[in-house]
Amino acid sequence: MSLDTLKSKLAHRPNLSPQYGVIYKITPTIIYAKGITPSVGDIIKAIHKDSSESLGIVTLSESGSFGFSPFGFVEGFSISDKVFIEKNELSFPVCDDMLGRVLDPLGQPIDDKPPLQNTISVPIIAPPIRALRRGIIDEVFDVGVRSINGLLTCGKGQKMGIFAGSGVGKSTLMGMIVKGCDAPVKVIALIGERGREVPEFIHKSLGGDLSSTVLIVATSDDSPLMRKYGAFSAMAVAEYFKSQGKDVLFIMDSVTRFAMAQREIGLALGEPPTSKGYPPSVLTIMPQLMERAGKEEGKGSITAFFTVLVEGDDLSDPIADQARSILDGHIILDRNLTDFGVYPPIDVLSSASRLSNDITTKEHKELVRDFRRYYALIKENEILVRIGSYQKGADSELDYALSIQPKMQEYLKQNEDENINFEKSVADLRAIFASKPASRAQSQAQAQASLQQNLPDLPQE
Ligand SMILES: Nc1ncnc2c1ncn2[C@@H]1O[C@H](COP(=O)(O)OP(=O)(O)OP(=O)(O)O)[C@@H](O)[C@H]1O
Ligand SMILES: [Mg+2]
Repeated sequence: MSLDTLKSKLAHRPNLSPQYGVIYKITPTIIYAKGITPSVGDIIKAIHKDSSESLGIVTLSESGSFGFSPFGFVEGFSISDKVFIEKNELSFPVCDDMLGRVLDPLGQPIDDKPPLQNTISVPIIAPPIRALRRGIIDEVFDVGVRSINGLLTCGKGQKMGIFAGSGVGKSTLMGMIVKGCDAPVKVIALIGERGREVPEFIHKSLGGDLSSTVLIVATSDDSPLMRKYGAFSAMAVAEYFKSQGKDVLFIMDSVTRFAMAQREIGLALGEPPTSKGYPPSVLTIMPQLMERAGKEEGKGSITAFFTVLVEGDDLSDPIADQARSILDGHIILDRNLTDFGVYPPIDVLSSASRLSNDITTKEHKELVRDFRRYYALIKENEILVRIGSYQKGADSELDYALSIQPKMQEYLKQNEDENINFEKSVADLRAIFASKPASRAQSQAQAQASLQQNLPDLPQE
């Protein structure tokens, strides 16, 4: 056979040998290669001299070359290592048997159990639910925590933030919600926590019970990419169960560490630092993650709680600010309350659930309004009462508020291992106001009615 005939025959065959590129430059955070032309976001597999493999994601593209950030660290990479385009998108293995498992952001087990079997791959980066496919949030999501159920009622598909300084009780509250909520599937993303906190969270906060739970973990010693994608992977798992029509609880600790990971990535890619050194991309990836939670028409829902660490209890932090603007409400934990032994230390007056009005009854709304009003009244006059300048009888509203103060304080307290459902939370709230005197308008109406009843019947003309 002549060479020309052979060439023409081969021309119609697909090229079976995978194309590869080679690494030509390594910097502390980005590796440059040439020989193939992947798109930004493609996954790259590098094969090292000792035949071990590493994954990276393409973050830079130039004419004739590209740069990628490794998921691990740059140690182990060398010039001339071969690189291949691995898959067209970053995906995560999911299956129905994954409940009870602890996985890394790429789906590898870190619980000493065998790898997941019979999985399907779901994309880690996915668009949020389309605006017109979003279901209306009209059902209560019972979290098992009385003060949230009663005063900051959340709906199925709502996105809430838990804002607190370090050591105030975020993990404990998260554990209470995971244990107390009635969701059939719970996905927990632990992002950027110290390694020792992971077993501590499982044993202390969750009581060692991982049934119906999937835990995705990227600790502080993982690379920034792992920490960033850990959050997206966990959301992809939640979406998988949501697509089966389930109501999923998604809980992530913490958004701040996730934002810090993106800060490292963005700055390494040459983005300009803005407020507190955060590059602009941090503010865009937060809605990309958070907007994926919600309720979808004809499918299930993802009710999400994101913890936000407020350094030095400063609520004007750029991450806290951005989170508040995206989320449907915020629960603020106050360090001062812990001094008085109030756990969970929720500052009800500064916290809000933007959807509670849509899902609660008229009576419940009135009870919440009363609680807030009397609680605020006590706070306003606290000093006067403490130093003894307030004379009982001077203000009947304040007298009443002071009479129910112990009950209100008690209402906010809950033991870590206690689970108080929504109905009991509302009943307990109602019980606080059982002795409430009728309002002025009500008492006038009552007085009028009794006057009418007691009038002697006038003779008919
Ligand atoms: N409901 C509770 N009842 C009693 N003690 C509590 C409660 N919640 C928190 N605490 C106390 O507060 C401490 C800190 O709580 P936790 O670890 O939940 O805080 P954190 O905000 O997650 O801290 P970090 O910022 O270090 O992650 C706990 O060790 C515990 O002693
Ligand atoms: Mg914690």
